[in-house]
Amino acid sequence: MTTDTLEALAEDRLNKGLLNLWYPVLPSWAVQGAPVGITRLSQNIVVWRDADGQVHAIEDRCPHRGARLSMGWNLGDRLACWYHGVEVDGTGTVVDVPAVNDCPLVGQSCVKSYPAEERNDAIFLYFGDALHAEPPALDLPEQLTSDEYSAFLCTAIWKCNYRYAVDNVMDPMHGAYLHAQSHSMAFGDKQADMRVRKTDTGFIFEKTGQKDVNFDWVEYGESGAIWLRLSIPYRKQHGPGGSFYIIGFATPMDENHTQVFFWRVRKVQGWQRDVWRFLYRNRLEGLHWAVLEQDRVVLERMAPDARGHEFLYQHDVGLSRLRRVMEKQAHSQVAALNDAAPAEAAE
Ligand code: FES
Ligand SMILES: [Fe+2]
Repeated sequence: MTTDTLEALAEDRLNKGLLNLWYPVLPSWAVQGAPVGITRLSQNIVVWRDADGQVHAIEDRCPHRGARLSMGWNLGDRLACWYHGVEVDGTGTVVDVPAVNDCPLVGQSCVKSYPAEERNDAIFLYFGDALHAEPPALDLPEQLTSDEYSAFLCTAIWKCNYRYAVDNVMDPMHGAYLHAQSHSMAFGDKQADMRVRKTDTGFIFEKTGQKDVNFDWVEYGESGAIWLRLSIPYRKQHGPGGSFYIIGFATPMDENHTQVFFWRVRKVQGWQRDVWRFLYRNRLEGLHWAVLEQDRVVLERMAPDARGHEFLYQHDVGLSRLRRVMEKQAHSQVAALNDAAPAEAAE
């Protein structure tokens, strides 16, 4: 395969989403009794809960003739296709073909299944390639795993490629401009010098002269999933708990749609936790939606080829660094697949 073809495959991989990672794909509440059909990383997937409430995810394609399994029935331990009733379990194996006696299709593993984990009110799926079928451990940031913190999940679908959503979070300086008229980002310098600092799981991009005033730092980390973390200080009237943390994920749906997941977190215990949860639901959540809408409208209205016509400056060092990290991963993913099986990699 030529270098140009590998380049093109890597760019395609990057636009659809890097593999061999966990991604949040739905909030838990979105999957109740009926199967749910979704597109993530440009793959059609059906997500459902078995009779014990356990989540399963398999390719949304009936092995018989390709109808969407998400249009069928949840039978508790399997899905039944609406078209001719073929039944498929959570491993992607056909368990019954009710229309035919002794059908050879029974017992065959025909569709791909996705490792699934439910964490912090969201369903995470693992997207492995042919060389990485086994998922790595999913280690989420302490704001989501320690019970010293209290979080709310906020999720939305944006009509843009996920790479723009990632760039947006890796860009703290937009807080002082785009969100200047907000409850949390109206203060601090309109100028900054910024630097990059390495961490065990990635790096922090931060303002050198200002901390805890506005959106002053952001962290990229990779620990089974790619996550972004930042904090914004809250003023006294917004209740106990100190800085407000956001743990963010941008999950590619297809090349033009992204589902963003933002956990909004404060370090609060006891009665202060109740105050935070009450204040959030009654007052703060609405204010944060207004901020998030500002991000959404700017990103959705950017030219589709915006990335091809940029003049970056010092404040964009964080996002350029992360772009390079992700480009490198995309290259090594397609190169490894190509080395293992050149014909399949080209498909
Ligand atoms: S297409 Fe699903 S049973 Fe025929
Ligand atoms: Fe923003």
